[in-house]
Amino acid sequence: MNKIAVVYFSGTGNTEMMANAIADGVGEKGTKADVFAAEDFSASMMDDYDVIAFGCPAMGDEELEDSVFLPMFEPCRAKLNGKQIALFGSYDWGDGEWLRNWEQRCRDDGAVIAADSLKCNLTPDDEGIAACKATGGSLVYIIGCSALTALDGRPKRPRVYNIISFLLSIQDSQTIRAHNKGRTR
Ligand SMILES: Cc1cc2nc3c(=O)[nH]c(=O)nc-3n(C[C@H](O)[C@H](O)[C@H](O)COP(=O)(O)O)c2cc1C
Repeated sequence: MNKIAVVYFSGTGNTEMMANAIADGVGEKGTKADVFAAEDFSASMMDDYDVIAFGCPAMGDEELEDSVFLPMFEPCRAKLNGKQIALFGSYDWGDGEWLRNWEQRCRDDGAVIAADSLKCNLTPDDEGIAACKATGGSLVYIIGCSALTALDGRPKRPRVYNIISFLLSIQDSQTIRAHNKGRTR
């Protein structure tokens, strides 16, 4: 399979910019992500992808958007167990509480958080776009591992692949973490 999806909701375009930059980051690593607006994705498509990046801005009072994104995402939760995912979104005045809570709920559902959750304050600036691309890059390393595992048919990733993947993804992780640290409001 080895497929990556980026699924997002965006009211004013900021999270959409992040989604497209994540897909660009995947593209820069030589593969392709399928990008879906939330209304074009459903739980029945979860099994089609090895890795899914979900994006939703902070809405309500540190909540996920509840008229388009949540109706799509809630049924997906039943398929999160063991799924490699990444979370991202834009926000304004908060401190990222909506993203922390969302990540915790996904962990509780059994999801594997494949890259640091990524937030951008309003419209992503150049550094935010770089962090989005780094997120896309780290997702490619994850499916790279899956591909190699599929090649040799072994159910567990050989340790050497994990080590190579880990080393290759360090730079991307550092870019994401540096961005998140710089954003305290
Ligand atoms: C109804 C509404 C509720 C919001 N609630 C929050 C919030 O709780 N915390 C926050 O940091 N930003 C909040 N915001 C700001 C949005 O997250 C921010 O404008 C974001 O950039 C929107 O992303 P989008 O362009 O992808 O829709 C809210 C915006 C709206 C319109």
